[in-house]
Amino acid sequence: MAAPLALTDAEDPSFAELLALRPHLSLHAMDGLVMEEVPLARIAAEVGTPAWVYSAGALRRRARALKAALSGAGLAATIHFAMKCNDNLSVLKVLAAEGLGADVVSEGELRIARAAGIPGSAIVFSGVGKTATEIRHALEEDIFQINAESAEEIETISAIAVSLGRTARVALRVNPDVDAKTHAKITTGKSENKFGVHFDEAPAIYARMAALPGIAPVGIATHIGSQITAGMAAYRAAYARLAEMVRMLRAQGLPVERVDCGGGLGIPYRDEPAPTPESLAGAIRATLGDLDLPVMLEPGRWIAGPAGVLLAAVVLQKQGAAHRFVVVDAAMNDLVRPSMYEAWHGIVPLSAARAAAPLSPAEVVGPVCETGDTFARGRLLPHLAPGDAVAFLDAGAYGAVMSSTYNARPLAPEVLVDGARFAVVRERQTHDALLHGQRLPEWLVP
Ligand code: LLP
Repeated sequence: MAAPLALTDAEDPSFAELLALRPHLSLHAMDGLVMEEVPLARIAAEVGTPAWVYSAGALRRRARALKAALSGAGLAATIHFAMKCNDNLSVLKVLAAEGLGADVVSEGELRIARAAGIPGSAIVFSGVGKTATEIRHALEEDIFQINAESAEEIETISAIAVSLGRTARVALRVNPDVDAKTHAKITTGKSENKFGVHFDEAPAIYARMAALPGIAPVGIATHIGSQITAGMAAYRAAYARLAEMVRMLRAQGLPVERVDCGGGLGIPYRDEPAPTPESLAGAIRATLGDLDLPVMLEPGRWIAGPAGVLLAAVVLQKQGAAHRFVVVDAAMNDLVRPSMYEAWHGIVPLSAARAAAPLSPAEVVGPVCETGDTFARGRLLPHLAPGDAVAFLDAGAYGAVMSSTYNARPLAPEVLVDGARFAVVRERQTHDALLHGQRLPEWLVP
């Protein structure tokens, strides 16, 4: 994702190469691009575009692969899906049925997790600025663990827990000061980042947690960043520091029941090296394995990213002074990742005939009135006519959740595919809904 857009076209993977890595997608002569057993053109026709489409099969397969890697490494591990990357109720239901819990960062996410049937006992609450209301709500839901990120927050949690007559299970998020070598906007484990407590201060803060009423210290946590593809070195460095910390805390007679290893495992959007769940499990085993503690994981993107696409239709194709522009009906308000992080997303035509036609470079843009509303530059695509649909790949994580109604564009619907079935699992926002809640002050009403 940190890859610059300036790489030459020849380095981009072909449609076939992109699809080969995404087994829930395949291209058929008649049906075109198919997800599981459902032609995406059918969804585009029935539901309209833009639309998010998720593969239940891919979600299950990826959740299982992660579980198998962890148990294969001999780890006692629980997985808490980072629902900031996709908070769709049906997606959560699919993952909950696979035994995944949730990592939440707001009262809103906590409420959605509970609505999806995820028990409080499988929920961890992370975040650098939980409000008192959110902490109270989390304690009332008796969630598994709150990851505290500062000495200040610990005092607040203690006071609220005491006022409710409850005990908060709290892990301390430690900032290990390692560079995850990912995009600057999503690296979190360097000492200059806002996350967690400084490594050297952690033992004293942990001891304070043990001394405070209403708090049961249960362990330590870290999360060094997202879309980590540069190998396991940063993970190993961070987890080695956590192991050192656990030994230090134990030596002081402090209780440590578990370690939360965070999320961040990257995916190949274009041709990035793809770290495997096995290599992550191996890194955990090698660094934390001797401690004989259960571990927690908070993956988001690795599970949901490849499982989703954003469908869009071509509005028109126009020849500019310097480029061919393909203008689609999705925009930066839908999928913000390209404009926000210079992220590369595969773009595949739904029609097999189009996918097989001669390719030439195009700028793929949305209708929003900003030059930044650009999905791809110099992308090799066939001639595309108005109404032709395309799929933006790997849009299952940090896609719909980051969309907005900028330019008064209603939020796109979400669709779940499961085998030969599909269903709209979140309806398209209506234009009326955009006006909902707005009111005119009486002095503007004649
Ligand atoms: N745990 C914590 C505490 C986190 O902050 C995050 C992500 C995760 C787990 C899950 O990370 P993942 O496994 O998904 O990498 N909007 C950006 C990504 C932001 C990630 C924020 N934190 C993007 O579109 O690339």
